[in-house]
Amino acid sequence: MKILVTAGPTREPIDPVRFLTNRSSGKMGYELAAAFAHAGHSVLLISGPTALDVPDGVDYMPVETAEDMHRAVSHHIGRMEVAVFAAAVADYAPKELAPEKIKKTGETMTLELVRTPDILGSARGAMGFEGTLVGFAAETQNLVENAKDKLERKGCDLVIANDVSKPGIGFDSDHNEVLLVFADHTEPLPLGSKHDLAHTLVRRITELTC
Ligand code: CTP
Repeated sequence: MKILVTAGPTREPIDPVRFLTNRSSGKMGYELAAAFAHAGHSVLLISGPTALDVPDGVDYMPVETAEDMHRAVSHHIGRMEVAVFAAAVADYAPKELAPEKIKKTGETMTLELVRTPDILGSARGAMGFEGTLVGFAAETQNLVENAKDKLERKGCDLVIANDVSKPGIGFDSDHNEVLLVFADHTEPLPLGSKHDLAHTLVRRITELTC
C-alpha cells in the first residue's frame, strides 16, 4: 500500500535567527515509517526538522513550517491509501516574519501569532482524502473524551492517544504508552519502546484498511 506519514515538529520563523517549535523528537513517526517500509509498503515521510536518520527504503520530504507541511501533504495525499499524522504541528505561527534580526528594546515584547492550517483537519474535507486516516492526540487531561472528539471532528478511522503528562513517555522519549481510539471501541496498548509499538501500530492500521 501507499502510506503517507507526517513526523517531527514544525519550525515557525520569527526573524532570520529565531523560530517557535516544540519538544517533538520525531521518533514515533520515523519508527512508524520504518515499520511500514519493513512490512513492504511504499512510504512517503513528510517531516519537520529532526536529528534522526531517514529510515531505509522510505521516500523523504523535509519541510520546515506548518504551511510547508500542509502544502506537501495536500500535494501527495491524493495517491495514498493510508495517511498517518504523527507530526507535532505548531498550532500558531508568528503573524509576520521580521526581515532583520529583532533587536531588544523594552523590558517586554509582544509577538502576535496566527493559526496555522489544520492539516489533519483538512484531510477529509479540503483535500478529499478517502483512505484510512490516522491521527495522534497528545493530551494532558480527559484523554478518552478528547481523543474521541478529535476522531469525530477530523473524520479519523483511528486516533492514537497518549497522556503527555505521564513522565517518561511521549514527547522526546524512546518509550510510549498509547490508547487506540476507534469509532466503536478503545484499546490500551502496554508501555513499550516506540520501535516495538510502531510494529504493533502498523499491524492494527493495516487491518483497518483490509
Ligand atoms: N495536526 C495537524 N495540523 C495541525 C495541528 C495538528 O495535522 N495544524 C495533527 C497532528 O499531527 C496530530 C493531530 O492533529 O495527528 C492532533 O493534534 P492536536 O494539536 O492534539 O489536535 P487539535 O485537535 O488541533 O488540538 P486541540 O483541539 O487539543 O488544540
